[in-house]
Amino acid sequence: MTTYRIALIPGDGIGTEVLPPAQALLDAVGRRHAIAFTYDRFDWSCQRYLAEGAMMPPDGPRRIRDHDAVLLGAVGWPGVPDHVSLWGLLIPIRRTFQQYVNLRPVKVLDGVPGPLRDADGVDLVVVRENVEGEYSEIGGRLGRGTPDELAVQEAVFTRKGVTRVVEYAYTLAATRSNHVTSATKSNGIIHTMPFWDEIVAGVADRHPDVRSDREHIDALAAKLVLAPRTFDVIVGSNLFGDILSDLAAAVAGSIGVAPAANLNPEREFPSMFEPVHGSAPDIAGKGKANPLGAMWSAAMMLDHLGHPEAAADLLAAAFGALSDGVRTADLGGTADTAGYTRAVLDRV
Ligand code: NAI
Ligand code: MG
Repeated sequence: MTTYRIALIPGDGIGTEVLPPAQALLDAVGRRHAIAFTYDRFDWSCQRYLAEGAMMPPDGPRRIRDHDAVLLGAVGWPGVPDHVSLWGLLIPIRRTFQQYVNLRPVKVLDGVPGPLRDADGVDLVVVRENVEGEYSEIGGRLGRGTPDELAVQEAVFTRKGVTRVVEYAYTLAATRSNHVTSATKSNGIIHTMPFWDEIVAGVADRHPDVRSDREHIDALAAKLVLAPRTFDVIVGSNLFGDILSDLAAAVAGSIGVAPAANLNPEREFPSMFEPVHGSAPDIAGKGKANPLGAMWSAAMMLDHLGHPEAAADLLAAAFGALSDGVRTADLGGTADTAGYTRAVLDRV
């Protein structure tokens, strides 16, 4: 029996409602694969911010440094500015733990009606750079409130940072359909994006078996809607990857099913797994949340911990319940969180 120590950060809103189903499923699948989990729960959230003035304690990352992985629900709540919840918790963890790959698989699932007439067979993954790029603290504002007010925001691209995430995307493509599309905008953004393109070209040369495409982000967004099946691995900067992965998740049907992994591929630090969706204040506390995004994120955690068969079993149970017609309201069904979870557990 292998036991893993998981740091659990449910966060706010439906974050606290989707993690218990994911844990129950991990435990059930684990029993069949001689894997066990112990969970340490942390109350880091907007609730904590409102009570104590900080999303997490100053030594937060140190407290979860020695766990095998982090499972996070969602953070954010009305009354707390979104940049506080993001920069007070998610971004420090991603950066302290060098989780420079944000991996977001997108699949059109049996039983999930999407907004497109025909998206059957879409199976792609967005690899988003996760620690540098456009999401930077460098910049400032001058002349606040005056007619001459100005704001400057710097983007930071490093050779090391771009190379490692693009290298990850090419290595991943070699295990899939051998095709990488790089998101760029080197016609408009004339310093960082040509630099990005140059590094992508260098990495592509080292992977002659992988087909390389380059698309400007605007055209790529349109193509993701018009021809989503033509993509395999899409690699993009922090901002481009963020937008494309939400768009791709919408193409697949619902934000509630989309999973994400924040990976430290060198395994020097724990990686973090979280559904793509937020805390959904509009449905929080009503038992309506779809826990599939959290479950799928837990499967990505199993995969990362070296248990691909257990991950496949978990997903087969979660997807199987959908095929049986058990779906939450966001997918046009009538099941609540508990009902869908029961159907999934019954299949394990
Ligand atoms: P959201 O993802 O929370 O909700 C968008 C819409 O999708 C809502 O109508 C919601 O009801 C629905 N939805 C989301 N997840 C669902 C699920 N599992 N099942 C059923 N329906 C679901 O995004 P929104 O409204 O923009 O943000 C709400 C809060 O969450 C904000 O404070 C935001 O900052 C935060 N947020 C946090 C994220 C994170 O923790 N990684 C990511 C995105 C937003
Ligand atoms: Mg996003």
